[in-house]
Formats: sequence, C-alpha cells, structure tokens
Amino acid sequence: MEMEEERTEKRTISLIEKLEAQHSLTLAEYEALVGYMVERPVPDSAERFLECKASTGRRTDRAAALLAEKAVAARQQVYGKDVYIRGLIEISNICKNDCYYCGIRRSNRSCERYRLSEQEILECCATGYALGFRTFVLQGGEDAHFSDEVVCRLIGQIKKNHPDCAVTLSLGERSRESYQRMYDAGADRYLLRHETADKAHYEKLHPPQMSFDNRMRCLRDLKEIGYQVGCGFMVGSPYQTVQTISEDLKFIEEFRPDMCGIGPFVPHQATPFAKESAGTVELTCYLLSIIRLIHPNVLLPSTTALGTIDPQGREKGILSGANVVMPNLSPVSVRKKYELYDNKICTGEESAQCRHCLEQRMESIGYHVVTARGDVKEWRDS
Ligand code: 5AD
Ligand code: FES
Repeated sequence: MEMEEERTEKRTISLIEKLEAQHSLTLAEYEALVGYMVERPVPDSAERFLECKASTGRRTDRAAALLAEKAVAARQQVYGKDVYIRGLIEISNICKNDCYYCGIRRSNRSCERYRLSEQEILECCATGYALGFRTFVLQGGEDAHFSDEVVCRLIGQIKKNHPDCAVTLSLGERSRESYQRMYDAGADRYLLRHETADKAHYEKLHPPQMSFDNRMRCLRDLKEIGYQVGCGFMVGSPYQTVQTISEDLKFIEEFRPDMCGIGPFVPHQATPFAKESAGTVELTCYLLSIIRLIHPNVLLPSTTALGTIDPQGREKGILSGANVVMPNLSPVSVRKKYELYDNKICTGEESAQCRHCLEQRMESIGYHVVTARGDVKEWRDS
C-alpha cells in the first residue's frame, strides 16, 4: 500500500513537471492529476458522479505544494509580484435565466430586485477612478433593460470620463451583433464563464431553456470579435466529477482565454442546490495552479467566493498563482441584493474599505496592488 501511494505521488510529480514544461496534458493525464487531489479511488462507471469536495489528506501535500510553487514561479516570470485590481460594479440583479445554482435566478421570489441608473454607474466609476481603479467590470443578470443602446451609451460615457481605463463587460449571453456593437463602442474585455465544458453536466446545472452550444458560440464570437475573453467554472458544483474538471482544463488549454474565473461553488439557500455542499479551498487552489501552468500569462482572479469560504481564501489564491482581485465598487445600498451565493463577503463595506482591505491583504503576503489597466501580457518560454 505504502509503495503504491509512493508510485502515485511520483506519477503526479512527473505530470506536474510535464505540465510546467509543455503547458499541455492529455485528458487522461488531467484526470490523473485532478484525481490525485480529489483523492478517491478511480470511480467505476456507475459512480462517475462522485463529489469533488476534496479534503487534503497528508498524501497530497507534497505534490500540491510543488504544483503551487511552480505556478507561483510561472506567474512571477510574467507578472512579478503585481496584483491587478478590477472594480466590480453589479449593475442589475434582474435576470431572465434560472440557473439552478444562482441566487439571483428568475424563480427566486425572495430576491429583492434592483437596477442601477446610468448616473449611479458613472458615479461608481468616478469613485473607483479616485481609488486607483483602471478597469471597471460591469456585471449583471441578463436584464433586457440593458439593451445594446443603453450599454453602448454607458461604455461611451465611461471611456469619455476615463480614457485610460479598460471596460470589461459581464452581461451574459447575447447575439454576435450585440457583442460586436459593444466592442465597437469601446468595450475591451468580456467575462462569460463556460460553467462546465461537459454538455451533460451543463444540462444538470441549467434548465432546458439554456443551451451549452449557445454558450460556447458566445465565447467563440467574443474571441473572434477581438475582446480579451474570460471563461471559467465553479469548483465543486453539483454533479462535477474528476472527468468534467479534466474537460474544463482541456477546454481552457485549447480555447486560450485571456482571463479565467475559478471559484468554489457556494450554495444559496433559495435555490434548488441549497442542500449541496460547497467546493473546497484546497481543490480551488490546486486548479488555479494548474491553470497558471497551462497559460503562464493568463489573468487569474482570486475570487470573492474563495474569500467567502475561507477568511484567508484570496491570499491563498494568490499564493497558488492567481494575480487579480476584484473588489466591489457597487453602491453599498445594493450589495446585499447581488447575492449569488450565501454569506458573500464585502456586502457591508464601502468601496474604499474593500480597496484598502485588499491592498493590506496583498502586502501581508508580499504582493502589491498596482494601478494599471492590467492587460494580458505576451509571453514566451524562456
Ligand atoms: N456559487 C459560486 N459561484 C456562483 N456563480 C453563480 N452562482 C454561484 C454560486 N452559488 C458564479 C457563476 C457565474 C458567476 C457570475 O458567478 O459561475 O458565471
Ligand atoms: Fe471587501 Fe476586504 S475586500 S472588506
């Protein structure tokens, strides 16, 4: 038994070395690497939908530590100790979708709905600019009020007020024409998590009205149009398996996103997944490191969800290879209402508080928040 564990550890370490050198693994190799952390015997086919709520046993520590070390070194080479900040403005929690995991899903009657006015959004940007933000992320549910006309006008105003800033949109699935118009109006980046690269898994997380193929179409369109594009998924979402995570990693490898949002799934009490368990810090950090080694230059946030399940979560994410944090810039009056999951942090703080809190947190681990647009950097193997 002892011998077998040692062999598994050796094999994992050689996979980590291969990933570091080649930035690519086969699907089966990703499975072995992820399976090592999830620490379950290889499931038989009937039991594929094992939960990925990994606990770090002692056995995984050495390989996990080595992986994090290599991820941090790769990030260091491209971005040094800089951490980019993005000002997140939650412009509306009105959403036509009904994703089973999400607290602002249409069917949640207990969610108090709001929509920020253009004036309020511009004020958030002005506050953010004074605090040193040079990227504004406009995120919201799929709210029909935010038509192309409204969004394009907003982008124009933000760019006029702050020409040195990047505008990132995170407004869900839209038509190619709509993405094109918003790009032409000046939007720089777009975040649209793919949620899972496995179609059958996607259908377990979403109602039949939503389509895996359309989501993938959106991501391809965004890339072709010229946006810096972010995809991503939740760690520990219901029905996620070692297999689906490996497909996520392969997808991320091949799609070559500029940004990648990875955070733990956290249940929300008013959703069908209320009784599911949350993802873990350990597995989230392990996957952040793997993604850093796949794409050394990717912009990788240490998410608010990670900070929600662990008071040191965002620091741990950075120490695993992440290089972005996204403090909240929304008006305090609406923060509690944009509750995608239970117990979300930073819902009572002022923007300035979050900004300084994160700065201190980064300094405490030897990293520095920088005031820069923080575009993706070119990178080549040395
Ligand atoms: N837990 C964690 N992340 C969630 N998201 C939505 N609901 C949850 C949840 N319960 C994530 C989704 C979405 C992003 C905006 O927030 O991945 O793409
Ligand atoms: Fe918001 Fe710490 S980041 S209070």
